[in-house]
Amino acid sequence: MKKWTSLLLALAMALSLAACGNSGTQENTSELPASVSGSIAEETPAPTDTEAPAEEPAEEPSEEPAESETPTTEDSSSVLIAYFSWSGNTEQVAQIIQQETGGDLFEIAPATAYTDDYNELLDIAQQEQSDNARPELAGQVENWEQYDTIFVGYPNWWSDAPMAVYTFLESYDWDGKTLIPFNTSASGGFGRSLSGLEESASGATILEGISFTEHTLGDAQSEVTAWLDGLGL
Ligand SMILES: Cc1cc2nc3c(=O)[nH]c(=O)nc-3n(C[C@H](O)[C@H](O)[C@H](O)COP(=O)(O)O)c2cc1C
Repeated sequence: MKKWTSLLLALAMALSLAACGNSGTQENTSELPASVSGSIAEETPAPTDTEAPAEEPAEEPSEEPAESETPTTEDSSSVLIAYFSWSGNTEQVAQIIQQETGGDLFEIAPATAYTDDYNELLDIAQQEQSDNARPELAGQVENWEQYDTIFVGYPNWWSDAPMAVYTFLESYDWDGKTLIPFNTSASGGFGRSLSGLEESASGATILEGISFTEHTLGDAQSEVTAWLDGLGL
């Protein structure tokens, strides 16, 4: 009887040990996804790491064209078209020159705008001329050094250039620059302004300019094209 009891006890112990062994295996198995997902989680930074270098080459080419574009931009902007215009005629010619040359436009504008009244303006302009005034300007040319060829346009005011044009000319260093004048008038052309230009833009090489009256302005497009061709521009 004792033998049977011992045998039964031994059998019961063997069965419970077997049951423990199985539950251990299950625990390990249930940990597997955790460790697998753990290893994925550890690898997760890897795609981030591989994304980072992927971005670097993308940045490099985008910087290169910017550098190679710089000289082209500098070349095309070595021409400046500076103009003064009260009623729009000179501005019209300036725009044609801009289209033909691809240069930069700059308006010579007084800090305090002139009156819109023509008769009042006649008096103001005459007064400024007899005072040899230099009216303050609204703005300055940025990067003056980059320009080699500067067109300067203005209307005839009392047989001369508006005094603001002299303020402009005397604000910059003209050594080594080429100045090309253009002008509009009722009939008087450049008047005596060309000698004023020579004085105020001393150091500049002054090329032959072009002048339009209110009657010849309609031909400005073809005239300007032919004139620029003649200048080799
Ligand atoms: C104050 C003033 C003075 C002028 N003096 C003359 C002049 O002496 N001789 C002339 O032919 N035209 C004269 N004009 C006419 C302008 O030169 C002409 O209308 C010019 O085309 C205007 O150019 P804008 O439209 O660019 O201002 C004068 C115009 C103004 C407003």
